[in-house]
Amino acid sequence: MIMKSLVLGIASLLLLTFGYLGISSGAKDARGIPAEKVADMLYSVIQSNRTFYAEHVVERMQAKGAAVASENWRSEKTLPLPAQFLQETARLSVNSKAKVGYKLISLWPINKQNGSKSESEQRGLMATQQNPNRPYTEVVMNGADSYLLAIYADRAVSQACIGCHNAHQDSPRHDFKQNDVMGAIMIMIPLNL
Ligand code: HEC
Repeated sequence: MIMKSLVLGIASLLLLTFGYLGISSGAKDARGIPAEKVADMLYSVIQSNRTFYAEHVVERMQAKGAAVASENWRSEKTLPLPAQFLQETARLSVNSKAKVGYKLISLWPINKQNGSKSESEQRGLMATQQNPNRPYTEVVMNGADSYLLAIYADRAVSQACIGCHNAHQDSPRHDFKQNDVMGAIMIMIPLNL
């Protein structure tokens, strides 16, 4: 009887200890967020900004006849296209202290600068083309610095996407259909901070 309660007592002590350790290590994990999660968070912010700009600035201004968006927005008095808005904000953030990078890329880019620049990017574009619902990730080196490369499929969510890309003279592809993967958003997260 005494033996039994002793065993029970030790067991509950062990449970309590491990229970406590479990909670404390959980709290530690929450502070050291995995780079993949950081990439997911950035992706959702980048996409939200792009969607808001496309719907509530470009489309709204166009509907009101106040302004149109065009590719040559710097020389003409027009708004930048949503793709250009994303690329321009990316240029600003890559020069910031956070050293985080992002970009729209594609296997069929209108702007040749948006083609894949490395085998890793090419692998990511092929992988997300095959499996659009899963982001592709890989650790890449840039000199002595390592980065998480995360690539998310960019789909033709509206008729406007395919209308413009299919008709564009610099587009290498003219048969995009709605919901096709047109390219990807690539995000680079620095790992050795
Ligand atoms: C009015 C024309 C237009 C519309 C609408 C448009 N795009 Fe583009 N898109 C462009 C141009 C022009 C570029 C090249 C921008 C640059 O110089 O970097 C581009 C770039 C891209 C790129 C990078 C690869 C490339 O082709 O250079 C992707 C991916 C992309 N667009 C996807 C989309 C998606 C998805 C939509 C719909 C949500 C969309 N685009 C709507 C004109 C358009």
